[in-house]
Amino acid sequence: MRRRAIGHAPGRINLIGEHTDYNDGMVMPVALRLGVTVKTRTRDDRIVHLTTDAAVSPRDASYEVGNERKDGTWVDRARGVTATLSNEDFPIAGFDAVIGSDLPLGAGLGSSAAFAIALLRAVSELFDIALDDKAIVRIAHAAETEFAGARAGLLDQLASVYGRPSEALLIDMRDQQMRTIPLPPTFELAVIDSGIRHEHATSGYNRRREECEDACRHLGIGSLRDLDERPLDMILERLPPPLDRRVRHVITENGRVRDAVRALGARDDARLGELLSASHRSLRDDYEVSTPELDRLVELARAAGSPGARMVGGGFGGSIIALARRGDAKDLAARVLEDYRGGHLVAVVP
Ligand code: GLA
Repeated sequence: MRRRAIGHAPGRINLIGEHTDYNDGMVMPVALRLGVTVKTRTRDDRIVHLTTDAAVSPRDASYEVGNERKDGTWVDRARGVTATLSNEDFPIAGFDAVIGSDLPLGAGLGSSAAFAIALLRAVSELFDIALDDKAIVRIAHAAETEFAGARAGLLDQLASVYGRPSEALLIDMRDQQMRTIPLPPTFELAVIDSGIRHEHATSGYNRRREECEDACRHLGIGSLRDLDERPLDMILERLPPPLDRRVRHVITENGRVRDAVRALGARDDARLGELLSASHRSLRDDYEVSTPELDRLVELARAAGSPGARMVGGGFGGSIIALARRGDAKDLAARVLEDYRGGHLVAVVP
């Protein structure tokens, strides 16, 4: 008899704290109600056969467990998952998987991590290997970094496994301490996809990470988090451009996360909005990971009355989040999308 198992995992937004995770910094994701679902069924050989009706290429793929070879497509995340499991001697074999997603893929909303986690949950049940949440985070991350070659941090995996739709999850990446912060009933967020994903997203991302490592070498420190208590000007003077701008983003962004925690506690939506907009400017001008389309969406959101908006996720395309008064996000998004062709409202959070 063939066994069957289903796994599901949500995507995420990140309220604030972008490109801080791999610098031992602070992040504040919120899980989406949208996600990836993987339905699996055992086979009597060692072949993994994947199919999806999502708008990706290829629509189906096969490979053998233990003989995974990268091809640069989304299938590499599945290959990364099964390769890691078989390298670690988990007793897995072949299976069929049907992948469905109501989360837009490649829109900066954590779809790669959600796919790997949904697959791990299904496979864990299918082969009775009882992976716990910690192992799921670790293996999904390994599939992304070691196999698919994006040197991503842990934000997406932690957000997908531990995040909730109505709470922000404050994570300090230095020790992975987590604290939930309820979203006040006064506001909501429109999540708007720009419809554009740049080819160089992975190489651009990896380049930023190298620049942060370069900056650490220049300064003789282990991670940019070690700079928290030092005067910013004195640090930046010691760094050649563009490393000074990259470091300014990371340090000021950690400060904005702390300020956002205070603004949430005080239900000060205007202040939270200022912080989101300041984060966007910093990602645009100092970290240089925004795009003209994301900048335009943020400007349109501000012009439509949003107290603050910013790009979300790794950048080089993807989505924005725009703050709105509770009940107003749909109208706000409609006004933004009147003037921006090719985008769409993905979700309203919470
Ligand atoms: C991507 C990565 C995360 C994080 C964000 C930027 O989503 O997967 O680890 O670095 O970009 O904050």
